[in-house]
Amino acid sequence: MIMPIHLYGTRVWETPARRVTKFDDRLVGLIRDMFETMHNADGIGLAANQVGLPMSLAVMDISVMEDYESEKPLVVINPEILESSGTYTMEEGCLSVPGVRDEVVRADSLRVRFVDGNFDKVEKELTGMWARVFQHEYDHLQQKFFVNRLAAVKRQMLKPKLAKIKRNEIKTRYPVLSASDEKAGS
Ligand code: NI
Repeated sequence: MIMPIHLYGTRVWETPARRVTKFDDRLVGLIRDMFETMHNADGIGLAANQVGLPMSLAVMDISVMEDYESEKPLVVINPEILESSGTYTMEEGCLSVPGVRDEVVRADSLRVRFVDGNFDKVEKELTGMWARVFQHEYDHLQQKFFVNRLAAVKRQMLKPKLAKIKRNEIKTRYPVLSASDEKAGS
């Protein structure tokens, strides 16, 4: 089932993501729906709050990117970043912030711990694109967007665009829920 993506400015972003404690069939179904929603939108990562559920869960699949075709999809539950090092800059976008792309500085190597799609606890090192996507989704679970990491001047310049996103004036190829949709519905 494809779910609408909750845009920047919607209510779900006001709620901290809770740790996942029930590893049941419902969670398996949700993970499947999140992959379907992400693939439908041509995304490479999707956090549960992006589909309106403030839970510490994200799905990632970077196999659509050049040089990463053989990479397997990754389910990340209750993630922790234990260590990070180095920095590098890369352009990012986000399904919840349509029409905006910008260069973001992030760590280039991480040591992380999470529960995976088999519900096993794993600890591993991530570098390159995996480290990038992991940090982007981890930010979402802290109620953050990549735009929060831009310099103040750049954020200021983005204000009109972010206001448009709240009013659902940016066209997307995938279903979305905007702040103005929420106001109209309540
Ligand atoms: Ni995102």
